[in-house]
Amino acid sequence: MAESLRAAIAAVGIAVGDKIMTNADFEAILDTSDEWITKRTGIKERHICTEEQSTATLAADAARKAIADAGLTPGEVDMIICATVTPEMPLPATACFIQELLGADSAACFDVGAACSGFIYALTVGATFVESGKYKNVVVIGADTLSKIADYEDRGTCVLFGDGAGAVVLQPTTDPGKGILHTVLHSKGDGWDFIHVPAGGSRTPTSEETIAQRQHYIKMRGRDVYKFAVEKMQWLLGNCMESCNMTVDDIDMVIPHQVNNRIIQSATDKFDFPIEKVYVNIDHRGNTSAASVPLALGEAWQEGKVGPGSTVMLIAFGAGLTWAGAVVKL
Ligand SMILES: CC(C)(COP(=O)(O)OP(=O)(O)OC[C@H]1O[C@@H](n2cnc3c(N)ncnc32)[C@H](O)[C@@H]1OP(=O)(O)O)[C@@H](O)C(=O)NCCC(=O)NCCS
Repeated sequence: MAESLRAAIAAVGIAVGDKIMTNADFEAILDTSDEWITKRTGIKERHICTEEQSTATLAADAARKAIADAGLTPGEVDMIICATVTPEMPLPATACFIQELLGADSAACFDVGAACSGFIYALTVGATFVESGKYKNVVVIGADTLSKIADYEDRGTCVLFGDGAGAVVLQPTTDPGKGILHTVLHSKGDGWDFIHVPAGGSRTPTSEETIAQRQHYIKMRGRDVYKFAVEKMQWLLGNCMESCNMTVDDIDMVIPHQVNNRIIQSATDKFDFPIEKVYVNIDHRGNTSAASVPLALGEAWQEGKVGPGSTVMLIAFGAGLTWAGAVVKL
């Protein structure tokens, strides 16, 4: 019988917008304060794009680093999957723009849209291609530039978001102690209006009226999202440990969607995760949507907090509504 294949993360690369926007910068344009933002969210600053940067440029920067770290050339990449809700253009797929920027001429390219859960959705899709034995070098990217669709007149949303990208290279392994051990994906379409951009799609195409009403920007029911987030993050932690027959002791690091310090803490406190086992970079990154989890994974790796042999748990939720988790042995 053929040995069963798993998909393993061979390398991670990250990139962020070149401009830093601090809470003081928001104090200058909105009725808000550093104290309010810090206390309610944990965010102190976030990186956002310059005019020259976009979702594809950040994604390509992150992917280039991951591909080089995996010892590959772009020409050896078989597939590029980009999770994003801020595509380069509505058409074609952002992954195609990334392919062009990388010169990854042999890659099949497509996007996945599951908002802040998008990276874990894309990771699951990419892992399935690798496990099938048909694809060997699959680049999975989470990339978003929410600064491009944030309403800088809405203090309840714009202070939360940053721009970034995180990329991993997936490769097949037969090593039983390595690879993606478990993934879980869920959605709840009747919660679409918790977080959405009303105009610019087929339901309400862009018009002078939609622009005047600022409907091309993100709208969010913050309180409702908060409650949903805590419930689903807790559920994901429980599901991931139970499915892998693991306890808190078996997990080296939880890498949660960097959404809000209080949400992360409420979720991980339920299982008494010690603080050093929960990776948080929200203070200097903000919420970077699909980039949030791979960006945190990449930073944790760079800081030596995780690395080959570590067992990490990735959990996220987002617009859709969607929620997703994964357990990975690096
Ligand atoms: C957005 C969020 C930080 C707001 O915190 P909150 O404690 O729920 O605050 P509320 O929305 O109830 O607002 C409380 C007050 O603060 C005000 N407020 C909102 N944003 C503010 C800001 N940036 N600065 C100052 N005051 C602000 C509100 O207007 C409200 O004022 P009011 O009482 O006079 O009406 C919080 O709900 C949250 O993090 N939700 C989840 C959001 C999220 O995760 N989104 C992305 C999902 S992927």
